[in-house]
Amino acid sequence: MAGVTNYSAEISALEHHREPLGTGERRPRVSWTTTAPGGDWSQEAYEMELRRSGAEEPWSSGRVASGESVLVPWPAGAPSLVSRQRVELRVRVWGAGHADPSPWSPWAWVEAGLLEPGDWTAEAISPVLDPGEPPGAALLMRREFVVSKTVARARLYVTAWGVYEVEVNGCRVGDQVLAPGWTSYAHRLQYQTFDVTASLVQGTNVIGAMLADGWFRGRLGFGGGVSRVYGDHLALLAQMEITYDDGSADVVSTGSSWMCSSGPIVSTGLYAGEHYDARCERPGWSLAGFDASGWGPVRVVNYEAGLLVAPQGPPVRRVGALAPKAVTRTAADRLIVDFGQNVSGRLRIRVEAPDGHRIVLRHAEVLENGELSLRPLRLAEALDQYVSAGRGLEEWEPRFTLHGFRYAELEGWPGDLADGAVEAIVCHTDMRRTGWFECSDELLNRLHDNIVWSMRSNFVSIPTDCPQRDERLGWTGDILAFAPTASFLYDCRGMLGSWLADLMVEQQAFGTVPEYVPWVPLTWPLVPAAAWGDASVFLPWALYERFGDRKVLEDQYPSMKAWVDQVAELAGRRHIWDQGLQLGDWLDPASPPDRPQDARTNCYLVATAFHARSAAIVAEVAAILGMGDDHMRYLALADSTREAFVREFVTPDGRLSSDAQTAYVLALSFGLFRGDQDRAQAGRRLTELVRAEGYRIGTGFVGTPLICDALTAVGADDVAYRLLMQRECPSWLYPVTMGATTVWERWDSLLSDGRVNPGEMTSFNHYAFGSVADWIHRTLVGLAPASPGYRHILVSPRPGGAITHAAAKHDTPYGRAAVEWTRSGQRLEVIITVPPNSTATVRLPDPAEALVEVGSGTYTFVCNFRDPADDVAPNGLSHQPQ
Ligand code: BGC
Repeated sequence: MAGVTNYSAEISALEHHREPLGTGERRPRVSWTTTAPGGDWSQEAYEMELRRSGAEEPWSSGRVASGESVLVPWPAGAPSLVSRQRVELRVRVWGAGHADPSPWSPWAWVEAGLLEPGDWTAEAISPVLDPGEPPGAALLMRREFVVSKTVARARLYVTAWGVYEVEVNGCRVGDQVLAPGWTSYAHRLQYQTFDVTASLVQGTNVIGAMLADGWFRGRLGFGGGVSRVYGDHLALLAQMEITYDDGSADVVSTGSSWMCSSGPIVSTGLYAGEHYDARCERPGWSLAGFDASGWGPVRVVNYEAGLLVAPQGPPVRRVGALAPKAVTRTAADRLIVDFGQNVSGRLRIRVEAPDGHRIVLRHAEVLENGELSLRPLRLAEALDQYVSAGRGLEEWEPRFTLHGFRYAELEGWPGDLADGAVEAIVCHTDMRRTGWFECSDELLNRLHDNIVWSMRSNFVSIPTDCPQRDERLGWTGDILAFAPTASFLYDCRGMLGSWLADLMVEQQAFGTVPEYVPWVPLTWPLVPAAAWGDASVFLPWALYERFGDRKVLEDQYPSMKAWVDQVAELAGRRHIWDQGLQLGDWLDPASPPDRPQDARTNCYLVATAFHARSAAIVAEVAAILGMGDDHMRYLALADSTREAFVREFVTPDGRLSSDAQTAYVLALSFGLFRGDQDRAQAGRRLTELVRAEGYRIGTGFVGTPLICDALTAVGADDVAYRLLMQRECPSWLYPVTMGATTVWERWDSLLSDGRVNPGEMTSFNHYAFGSVADWIHRTLVGLAPASPGYRHILVSPRPGGAITHAAAKHDTPYGRAAVEWTRSGQRLEVIITVPPNSTATVRLPDPAEALVEVGSGTYTFVCNFRDPADDVAPNGLSHQPQ
């Protein structure tokens, strides 16, 4: 085949960045995908070229004999990036058996941010408040500067202790929402890098910023919450570095020459909402020629440049707009707008109203008796107010708040709602979508859509529990349940990697893994709890499996180990963790509304099971990282804990002491048995229990993500399907039949009579129970990673549930993988796509579990599909590359 190069390569990512400006890595790893029309393509070698500019002769890695194409190390001989440096790079690849390489890929580029603390020369500034200024107001800050030479390039490095938006010469810089995002500010504060070259003009320029409380100083958490968690004073840090055509440079920074003023945002808070008085706008405030004579001074404040980090993941953005689906008028003459979809975001209004006219916007997820149901929001007011300046058509959207809502109530809206007068602006972390599913069952499709929407609503800078009430915290147990699903739907490696870095620094600071990260001092104690704390182990493992990135294991290894060591100490010589606060199988549907931790499964059984599994994961990670001693040590710990589990929780008749679904699910999923006989017995008992429950859900946060897998593993696919397709409450489809557009926190957040669950904790947008999507992708459709990052894929469709057609697509690090099957009668057709440089094992249901190994390409398989009771002769297996 020498000489034939009909394939081509393209650089797909540097580290995990979609946007390579301002990267924090000195030697970012490089990933590329190959398009190869023929089948069975694998890479034999690559060559990488790097150059600092188009004018420079490229540096070449030479031909590197390697099949690696994902997160390939920065070439050993190439210089590391230094601060501000931009490098272009390209690759070409050799396919196995091909003498000639592909053509060179297009040039990609990466530009480093400020990598050394010493790069920060700007002073941080804090507004000096007028004593009459109300708390929670957003303030304006500005300075002018002169540009007198031709600008070759200008970068703005900027962050805030608070949240900010920057303008240069009257235009918004970038499109981020709630920058700098939420991190554990005491340890890590992200800065942003913007290219402002095109924003500068000859002559006088202005840089201005709006600054508000956000997570830094605003109210956070339940039970009244706590404010000023990270400090009393907001501050802005901005460093604009301008390089001129003649090679000279200027730096325009925050410092004592800035001026500050109040503005139109009278108050703003993440929970409270935003109050905007258009009469207080300062027209032209970020333009030259503005009269700032009435503005006040700023104060220079100290900061630690060592805490500043470049973001690892994408920012929060406004990612879409929804038009109203229905509008009704209430008895009190208010408009209720239904957007048809529960989202996280805020409204944008366009309105003409007299000077001083006030419009009040309230938000809710559901209606009760035709009115907004505000009780589930608890102490989050979620109330925006706009006071018109009477200047004709005015347009407004809050800047520094977000709400979780499907419905909005407009009070004081003049007249009827014109087309385009109100939109819901959807805001969340702007990740790349990578996973899709659809099938012949419409309810299941809607369930999957709801799961996607709950992910979107809760991946807002950090992985949160819910977007609407006075919480929105990074509850660790929730993301433990959902991470495998999330990793399929979106490229969340960067975002979750950043959050794990916060988890680790807080674990070090507090001596345990907090139940929510970043930690906020509420009434919640800082003590270890199973499953929630095990996120420190399960999450890096899930990210490694799905993204093939070993670095997450290297980075998190100290944290994983520290968690397991801490629990080992608590479990003592008996290896049973039987003390302290436990959340157990949180929200087991049988638990009382006000005691979600009171589950059918004993919480110490849960705790000990998780300890055994976490120890086993750490043992595996130690082996991957080449730490032989650790590997043996944690393997022994996992074994002893398994034995202890059996001693403590398996009764003489082979049942578990908690004769409940989650108990069996955990034992089956984590391999906590004496032998195969016990395992088989547990499988039988689990199916009996599910049947006895009438195929309604009998599991909470801990059992739900694993139950379908556990049933599949014991050969009870039919039971898993009955559970999945159940519509009676509690079930996954019950909310869908009730009109849900996101996944609910409780199985019955909305009761069957239409009332909102009276429990104090009732969100309609929690992703944890959506974790079943992972089983849907891997097992129902049959698209699963068989080695880290889908280098090897397992295609193992297991049809059922009267579904006649199902399809999933996933953009793996190697490219698009897809599985699609169609059943007609007893004929099953399966079409699969395997991306170049990866391979797949295809396991077809008939002939019994037949295995076929394939390379990249698209293939069609046809086989018989029948119930085990069926006596159709097993044959007809065929496959041909297309
Ligand atoms: C959150 C949950 C969380 C739980 C743990 C709740 O208030 O919304 O999702 O995991 O608390 O206690």
